[in-house]
Amino acid sequence: MEKITIEGGRRLHGRVSVNGAKNAALPIMAACILAHGPSRIKGIPDIADVRVMMDLLRCLGMTVERSKDGSMELEVTRPGETVTLYKFVEKMRASICVLGPLLGRWGRAEVARPGGCVIGDRPIDLHLKGLQALGATITQDKGNIIAEGGDLYGTEIHLAGSFGPTVLGTANVMMAACLAKGTTIIKSAACEPEIQDLAHFLNLAGAKVSGIGTSCLTIGGVERLCGIDYEIIPDRIEAGTFMVASAITRGNILIENARMEHLEAVTEKLREIGVTVTEEDGGCRVKGTGDLTAACTSALPYPGFPTDMQPQFTSLLSIAKGTSVITEKVFPERIAHVAELNRMGASIRKEGNTIIVKGVDYLSGAEVKAADLRAGASLVIAGLAAEGTTEVRGLQHLDRGYERLEERLAHLGAKIKRVVDQPLLHMPKPVGVMP
Ligand code: EPZ
Repeated sequence: MEKITIEGGRRLHGRVSVNGAKNAALPIMAACILAHGPSRIKGIPDIADVRVMMDLLRCLGMTVERSKDGSMELEVTRPGETVTLYKFVEKMRASICVLGPLLGRWGRAEVARPGGCVIGDRPIDLHLKGLQALGATITQDKGNIIAEGGDLYGTEIHLAGSFGPTVLGTANVMMAACLAKGTTIIKSAACEPEIQDLAHFLNLAGAKVSGIGTSCLTIGGVERLCGIDYEIIPDRIEAGTFMVASAITRGNILIENARMEHLEAVTEKLREIGVTVTEEDGGCRVKGTGDLTAACTSALPYPGFPTDMQPQFTSLLSIAKGTSVITEKVFPERIAHVAELNRMGASIRKEGNTIIVKGVDYLSGAEVKAADLRAGASLVIAGLAAEGTTEVRGLQHLDRGYERLEERLAHLGAKIKRVVDQPLLHMPKPVGVMP
């Protein structure tokens, strides 16, 4: 096992570029199931979730290889494979995004139903509702979702639940609709930049998706899609994570390829609490200057403040002057970071889906453990600002979405490294306890 150790108090400086967006790469890799011939995709990050998706697609009859320049070539070479094993879904619930392309291409899909995770029970009812509306028959057997449809037929689908639109649900229905007969209209569709990127990929491959970037997508069914060359958009959540890291350390960094149009809500909040954010050289410069002031925000579907930035912002607001209120409207249970931040001296409490952060003067280094991906990022960020040494465990979560995060932070001046975590050789006998 490994852990990250951080000596806090170092101001970040210099420049960093962000990798391709994890949440665009995963559905775009799955979309290659729909295409005849090879696709060559640049910008796919080398992270654990991508490696799981590569193995999953290989089991689904695809040749998936990463070339020396880092680009990835994907091609269906064993047509007709439609069964996704639980071992992949267990590792990465986003495996569910092969459901739509398998159904669209082969008329059948068998995908292990994903379980929940620490941020919520992660239902897929909207995915299934959308695919059924296209004409698929959905059954469940031994924990597997079985979708069978033969030909799919375009229709109008309302795809939002009580927590708003579904990102991967929109991806699944949009991909299945590409090869359906007739036109599909998806209302209340997700419009995250990652969904827009997927739609652009599909159109270049021969699909007819319009309304991109809006909550109403229209997909005209076509006969076939063909493999293409493509480049994934930069990861706005990784960019936001570096922005917060600069802010909390009162640093001054340039994020070279941050797409400001994808970061408007994050930028607005950073400026509101006293951080300087300016566009520069095609990216953005983030300066943490004077004292931070408390703020209120809600984690919302795009273009609102992203839920995937809520844990990182909670760390930042924990040392802002005043009391901040964050309402988590996408994943109300996304609080795994709160208890760990309180171990570092933060003063945070949770009331329903609201996180109340009473700013403290400083955080103190401690041993903490990540329970999910963005909680891990929030603990690293807190460690950068904390007095003393912080040790972050649970790196398997962090590595799902960030490539060599500690190396890139060290490059920006942080005193941070990944080390082997010496396991306890024996548990010391409790003193004074009868055997
Ligand atoms: C995607 O998850 C992202 N993952 C998540 O990023 C992100 O937090 C989330 O969208 C919201 O932006 C990937 O793209 C791989 P949803 P997804 O379906 O699509 C409810 C990260 O850290 N819902 O948009 O699974 C659901 O419970 C990860 O990178 C239903 O009720 O999320 C939630 O409350 C974490 N029924 C809300 O909708 C459904 O059928 C949004 O979920 C589907 C979802």
